[in-house]
Amino acid sequence: MPAAIHPPRVAVVGAGAFGGNHLRVLSEMPEAALVAAIEPDPARAASVAERYRIPVLPSVDAALSADLTLHAAIVAVPTVHHCAVASQLLAAGIDCLVEKPLAASLPEADQLIALARRHARILQPGHLERFNPAVLAMQSDLRGPMFFEAHRLSVFTPRSLDVDVVLDLMIHDLDVVLRFAASPVRDLRAVGLPILSGKVDIANVRVEFDSGCVANFTASRVSTERVRKLRYFEPGRYVSIDYARRDALVIAVDQNFQLEAAMRAGAAEDFVHGLPGLHFDKPTIAPGEPLRLELESFLRSVHTRCQPAVTATEGRQALELALSIQQQMADHAQRAGLAS
Ligand SMILES: NC(=O)c1ccc[n+]([C@@H]2O[C@H](COP(=O)([O-])OP(=O)(O)OC[C@H]3O[C@@H](n4cnc5c(N)ncnc54)[C@H](O)[C@@H]3O)[C@@H](O)[C@H]2O)c1
Repeated sequence: MPAAIHPPRVAVVGAGAFGGNHLRVLSEMPEAALVAAIEPDPARAASVAERYRIPVLPSVDAALSADLTLHAAIVAVPTVHHCAVASQLLAAGIDCLVEKPLAASLPEADQLIALARRHARILQPGHLERFNPAVLAMQSDLRGPMFFEAHRLSVFTPRSLDVDVVLDLMIHDLDVVLRFAASPVRDLRAVGLPILSGKVDIANVRVEFDSGCVANFTASRVSTERVRKLRYFEPGRYVSIDYARRDALVIAVDQNFQLEAAMRAGAAEDFVHGLPGLHFDKPTIAPGEPLRLELESFLRSVHTRCQPAVTATEGRQALELALSIQQQMADHAQRAGLAS
């Protein structure tokens, strides 16, 4: 896109629960001109048209036939439709931010990556947590994490039921841990159970990386509480990220502290008041809405033509791990006599 065309003309495809968030944030951003939405559901289309005063087309075909001069689109349709919708847009020369997961299968992800390359388009997967201010802060201060514990629990809502909990929720943590661990996956074990939806609603996974780092993931969409946490241990440090609060707690071990010496010196009473040898710190984290930061980043790539902060290849890696987990869960269900 020539530098003169700014802000880019953007459409949101799929005005459901999450597309609605994109519409709200984009409508407030000077970096974008929100010019249209694409939504086949007539009631949703009418409500979006009224709220944002933009044309709402029923399909990508209709949008491409209309005189919209689109530069970029946010693809927020159900995951099973990501590939069909984004393929049409990329082939028409439109940059795409495709909600996570990038696609429903690896051949579909490869098709999108090839199309983006062929048409020289920006293709960014919507791995929102990468733009969580707590993740951004800790990513710039990694010290070789060796053990991760990720929990992502949600109460049940009848949404995203086209995919299981691994592609729906766990994919966020898979993506972040793949980046933080920075090592190829060596081995994994997984168990998952369908509870309400007919697809796996609760899953527990153990991943081992070539580096020896180990990560445990738990994801549930049938929980009684909402939890979004990532904890990890590095040499001399424990870090706890709360994605929902967008903050982090860092507990560092005093390298000179010796437990036995402290006990001999009579420091045992100190344990009543706290843990000697440990330093608690809450790093200052710049506030920010992850979705806005993600969209700003995408629009920067659209404008400058530089590689997105989260690449389609990284989206494919997260998807590949998620699909291997699904295979392991199916194997486990078979062994345990749980497969229907
Ligand atoms: N990044 C995140 O944190 C996050 C959170 C929730 C959902 N999502 C992702 O967003 C996507 C949408 O999820 P949702 O919960 O909003 O789903 P949803 O069912 O609430 O909304 C999807 C919308 O897309 C519309 N649609 C279906 N096919 C279409 C097509 N071919 N063209 C145009 N519109 C079409 C539907 O009518 C519906 O309004 C999914 O990929 C999901 O994984 C991401």
